[in-house]
Amino acid sequence: MTEKIKVGIIGCGGIARATHIPNYKKISDVEIVACADVNIEAAKKTAEEFNIAKYYKDYNEMLEKENLDAVSVCTPNVLHKDPAIAAMKHGAHVLTEKPMAGSLKDAKEMYEASKKYNKILIVGYQTRFRVDIIALKTLVESGELGEIYYSEALHLRRWGIPVSPTFLNKSLSGGGPLLDIGCYAVDSAMYVLGFPKPKSVLGVTYNKFGKNPEMAKKGGWGGAWKPEEFQVEDNAFAFIKFENGMSMLLETNWASFIKEDGLNLVLLGTKGGAQLKPLELYKEIMGSRVTITPQDKIPEVDIYNQRIAKFVESVKSGKALFSPAIEGLKVQAILDAIYNSAEKGKEVPVEWDF
Ligand SMILES: NC(=O)c1ccc[n+]([C@@H]2O[C@H](COP(=O)([O-])OP(=O)(O)OC[C@H]3O[C@@H](n4cnc5c(N)ncnc54)[C@H](O)[C@@H]3O)[C@@H](O)[C@H]2O)c1
Repeated sequence: MTEKIKVGIIGCGGIARATHIPNYKKISDVEIVACADVNIEAAKKTAEEFNIAKYYKDYNEMLEKENLDAVSVCTPNVLHKDPAIAAMKHGAHVLTEKPMAGSLKDAKEMYEASKKYNKILIVGYQTRFRVDIIALKTLVESGELGEIYYSEALHLRRWGIPVSPTFLNKSLSGGGPLLDIGCYAVDSAMYVLGFPKPKSVLGVTYNKFGKNPEMAKKGGWGGAWKPEEFQVEDNAFAFIKFENGMSMLLETNWASFIKEDGLNLVLLGTKGGAQLKPLELYKEIMGSRVTITPQDKIPEVDIYNQRIAKFVESVKSGKALFSPAIEGLKVQAILDAIYNSAEKGKEVPVEWDF
């Protein structure tokens, strides 16, 4: 490609303005030609601030007029599907925010559309660029841990409730912390483990803080929330069984009485164990149990910059270079099964025939 890659932004809110647009701007052969938001003021402000030539209220109009090569979909979860499919139909490759969609049904339609229109669809799990996650994946692939029979995937917060309707209104978010940050725990674990096939899931969800008026008054990220508008879970837990015999405990929440926040992954294997936070390997060497800790500082990588750079590289090369739609869909299938199990109050199978 000799001409500049023409990019459009759909949804001009927090994540588009903080990470998508500034990182596209750093790439010399990319031009953000337009942005769109149902809130025309948000689109106008973004266009002016970031020197984007055109802005639209209706993303369909933008897609009709601008002949875009690539689009970032930065709308609330439930609203990923329609703009992503419309963009691919109009010939653009798509980077959609995480999770892939607000539901498995929507994620499936997006995946089918990417095949139908032969367009790249990447689900923007920037955690794929974390050096410690890549190190753990390399360790698993080397066979150093032997057969991994148990794992724990955690993304927990002591007090980190996002209060905007994008996250609390179910018709926009599709769910609570399970979709918002549990998706990282599941994606990272599945990526490290090579996407083994899940068999069944037993899940539970709770709302223990969201509807509590005292807690609501205390507030979360960005002030108080209205308890009656807190329509999603605030804690979710699950036990996942895999066809290869492995099992996984998933824990995620926006609020809980724990020591510290964070994403972690614990792996138990027949020849060793390992975890992400802190990055450590547990083995038996010379007849003794040892803990191996990297002595070099784990390099800091701007993972948000990396995901845009890799998406642009994907557009240039014509293939998804990270987190392709099929993997986003598989993560969504597990998240969906957890909600399904929690609702039914029993173990359920995971849909997996994609
Ligand atoms: N990767 C990350 O670290 C990260 C962080 C935060 C949010 N996110 C994800 O990004 C997405 C957006 O989150 P956010 O925090 O930016 O939300 P936000 O509420 O700040 O922004 C969403 C924007 O989308 C606009 N919008 C809604 N419907 C639209 C439509 N039909 N067409 C065009 N624009 C529309 C809204 O007006 C708003 O400006 C969510 O899926 C969220 O999970 C990812």
